[in-house]
Amino acid sequence: MSNIHHQDTDTLAALVAPYRKTGVTKRSEENIRQSVEELLAKMTLEEKIGQMSQCADSEFSFGADIEAAPTDVLVREGRVGSILGAFNSRRTFDLQKMAVEQSRLGIPLFFNADVIHGYQTIFPIPLAWASSWNMEQIREACVIAAREATASGITYNHGPMVDISRDARWGRVMEGAGEDPYLGSLIAKAQVEGFQGDSLFNEETLIACLKHFVAYGASEAGRDYNTVDISEWMLRNIYLPPFQAGLEAGSASVMNAFNFYNGIPIAGNKFILNDLLRKELGFDGMLISDYGAVDEIYIHGAARDRKEAAKLSLDASMDIEMVTQLYEQHLPALVAEGKIDIEQIDAAVRRILIYKYEIGLMDDPFRYIRPEKEVEYHFHPEHLQASLELARRSIVLLKNDRRILPLPQEGLLQGDMTVALIGPFADSKDMLGTWQFSRYKEETVTLREGLQAKGIADAALLYAQGSGVNEAIPGGIEQAVKTAREADMIVLALGEHSEMSGEAASRMDISIPAPQQRLAEELVKLGKPIVLVLTNGRPLVLDWYQEHVDAIVETWFLGSQAGHAIADVLLGDYNPSGKLTMSFPKHLGQTPIYYNRFNTGRPVTAENKDEKYISKYLDGPNEPLYPFGYGLSYTHFTYSALKLDRDIIKRGESITVRATVTNTGNVAGEETVQMYIQDLYGSTVRPVKELKGFHKIHLQPGQSTGVEFTITEQDLQYCNASLEWVAEPGEFKVYVGTSSVDVLERSFELI
Ligand code: BGC
Repeated sequence: MSNIHHQDTDTLAALVAPYRKTGVTKRSEENIRQSVEELLAKMTLEEKIGQMSQCADSEFSFGADIEAAPTDVLVREGRVGSILGAFNSRRTFDLQKMAVEQSRLGIPLFFNADVIHGYQTIFPIPLAWASSWNMEQIREACVIAAREATASGITYNHGPMVDISRDARWGRVMEGAGEDPYLGSLIAKAQVEGFQGDSLFNEETLIACLKHFVAYGASEAGRDYNTVDISEWMLRNIYLPPFQAGLEAGSASVMNAFNFYNGIPIAGNKFILNDLLRKELGFDGMLISDYGAVDEIYIHGAARDRKEAAKLSLDASMDIEMVTQLYEQHLPALVAEGKIDIEQIDAAVRRILIYKYEIGLMDDPFRYIRPEKEVEYHFHPEHLQASLELARRSIVLLKNDRRILPLPQEGLLQGDMTVALIGPFADSKDMLGTWQFSRYKEETVTLREGLQAKGIADAALLYAQGSGVNEAIPGGIEQAVKTAREADMIVLALGEHSEMSGEAASRMDISIPAPQQRLAEELVKLGKPIVLVLTNGRPLVLDWYQEHVDAIVETWFLGSQAGHAIADVLLGDYNPSGKLTMSFPKHLGQTPIYYNRFNTGRPVTAENKDEKYISKYLDGPNEPLYPFGYGLSYTHFTYSALKLDRDIIKRGESITVRATVTNTGNVAGEETVQMYIQDLYGSTVRPVKELKGFHKIHLQPGQSTGVEFTITEQDLQYCNASLEWVAEPGEFKVYVGTSSVDVLERSFELI
């Protein structure tokens, strides 16, 4: 399936074919190093800076308009080494041809893009796919995204985003894995492995870029691009681990965060980039500045002028400048004045050229540009199937009173009962979420289409939109109420549109927008069973819904196959298994809220909860509405027999944790068995719980299974006040259960 006209593809494929080389083999590391030195020796200063500069293709822009010469001119003149946002093989071919044939040294370009949750086939947004806790399927989604993107000539991804996020007001929570460093690390690794595969030389793999280094997720008050002020202790314990995991998985690139650290914007922060990333973590790949971030050192007011901003960034070992042209404008003078050393520039260019050789571009510049593969791969049925499977697993069942779900499929199919499908997301194509650039948006399966595809006739599936996302529809509520009156049940599809999360999409109020709330209130008055289906890119405040509707299904933005996945869950063809990776606050005022919080000196307990001078709110609880790790199933899992094989361990030893899980409901289901620990005291305060392991199990009704975890000394380590990773002696608790709250517990001691 493809919406590229075949004749055009054939013509383009015929055009590209003579440019492709055959028999190109992978070079050895030694050979690459030598070739890079030879090439470097031929390059002028301007050509070197050209490799360090990236421009956005004419159709692509984020944020402030950047003044630059047209892409074609920059390419011909060898003034850029990579292009952002050239999205199809026609364009990548034309630009590569210009670079290779018309620039003096003919060095091929990297083509960069944000391939965050799919390229043409769109997968669930990362916050959604994180809820699957399924590393194989997340990795596979990235393999597919890379396969589709590279067919268009894209070689360098601006992802994965591995920022820990704890504040649901921040729109970019949708791009990451949520609030937990352990799970975030596993997901970072799975994504890097998926994008990069076993070898970057393979034409279907993509350079991964870990972003945003570092602590961008800690933006104050959840406002994008805002101040971050955290201790190094917090940085190392919470924000750094997913980057370390991504680096260990071999990520070839890292992108800086927009925020500052200790007052210095990270694009020019030597401590963060040189000392921490390069020296301590051993990163020798390509460091790319985020969009305009070099220039923003100046705008932040942390450089006297733009020239100083360019110097600060190069001094911090920033290899590639995204879209602004301060390197081009200022590095030559800085070299002439002796303020920077040419060796700094050579080091950056080396890092870039090494990868141009490694991925085979230098020997075969057109190898990734394969129009015939675009036709074959883009939106391929197998890719859609993978998207559907991950979409089902990303759905989280938040509430299901009186087991109202699954809907009675038989009754609906036979027309014995009717459902009123209502709301702005009932029949909406806006199910892909942001950070996707698919040409196939119109082929997104809506919820209504998903239900229709199950064979439910229109007579049993009444429909009314009722409201827009942020604006009322004249007469919409009346129409919706009238429709709902004729039905036995209501499926109410509410949420946020895709531009309400993502970059530059922070919200002060993370509740369902007012016009939709009014619609819900009117429908609730009818007293009919209501299933709320949510489409959104962040945790929302759902307290009112928890009280007034019967079932709540969190579907996020599920991607190309959204409607099919939701219909599978609503009708019971798939038993939901997703578990939240970000806490849902009960009230906005609790934000930021996360399960792995630190103890206070005045914690609330069952005994002291009515006292005054304790760490609580006057007007509501401390607990979230739905905690980390929470998610229901159509069956029920009972946990028992939690046992440790010993009560005391010494350094270097491990402890085995066993529990029994039984499916005590009526249908088969998948459970994510979670294991947390708590270090009861340390030389610094310790989180009240930390995820340290999980298992996915599938049980038939009545079936039991044993699950086993091993805790090693390494699992007990954390970063202490001297910034060393240590496991300190003392008592630990182990918790095993179905969420971060609903757990069994035991204790042991490390001596
Ligand atoms: C974002 C990056 C992204 C870049 C463009 C920036 O505004 O912060 O995450 O990669 O735009 O590709």
